[in-house]
Amino acid sequence: MNTETAIMKITGDAEIQRQFLEMSHLYDAAIREVRTKLEILDREFSILYASNPIHHIDSRLKSPRSIIGKLERKGLPVTIESAEANLQDIAGVRIVCNYIDDIYRLAELLVRQQDLELVVQKDYIRNPKPNGYRSLHLVLRVPVYLSSHTELVPVEVQIRTIAMDFWASLEHQLRYKSDVEATAALKGRLKRCAEQSAALDVEMQSIYREVRRLAGCRDDGYDGDDSCPERVPQADYRSGAEALRQ
Ligand code: GTP
Ligand code: MG
Repeated sequence: MNTETAIMKITGDAEIQRQFLEMSHLYDAAIREVRTKLEILDREFSILYASNPIHHIDSRLKSPRSIIGKLERKGLPVTIESAEANLQDIAGVRIVCNYIDDIYRLAELLVRQQDLELVVQKDYIRNPKPNGYRSLHLVLRVPVYLSSHTELVPVEVQIRTIAMDFWASLEHQLRYKSDVEATAALKGRLKRCAEQSAALDVEMQSIYREVRRLAGCRDDGYDGDDSCPERVPQADYRSGAEALRQ
């Protein structure tokens, strides 16, 4: 059965539609839980350290069309049960951070939370993909409390810097939105762009650390990064909290 036929079958079958709705509710709830946890951490950082590790958060629920397409590409049965058993990215959260240190700090804080279970971690920052792609990927299982029982729902969390996000978004567009098959030369140029933006991330991180050091912030013990709660000016405190309320 091709994707279009499968989609026709789903849209015409009331029972499958109901199952899809139930599944969407579950995965959407898991996304909202992860987003709330992240917002709480980001706000806490702005209060304690006058710094926001998160630049912004994107999230998405995989559409029925993409779920069916992926199951077919992988040669798996096209059913709700199969999607739940085999796909770990039905719920996706992307955290875009300012600095590389923020990525590892956030990942550690998430994984340490008692109700979250780390299922998979792929570090494409320390081990970039051959094309130059960089990000930290986690699959977390999140408990969703329903009226009759609790479900542990997988959420794919991608954590990256603004520079990594910039590169990945454009590379994705160039790869999927263009009919042109990329030549080796074009792939090489894209990879060099990834390396240049990675070097930029390292330099920006170093500048940030140096600025904090010169400002006399004390070391909070995290990988050379600093925090200075005793020096948080009131205006910064308010602007951080207000930014999150928007
Ligand atoms: P999928 O079957 O596609 O989920 O791959 P996987 O299970 O091997 O997971 P992987 O961690 O490699 O990638 C999952 C997601 O990361 C993709 O759906 C993309 O959002 C992102 N990603 C991975 N590789 C690349 C890449 O080379 N370029 C871009 N732009 N995004 C990537
Ligand atoms: Mg995926």
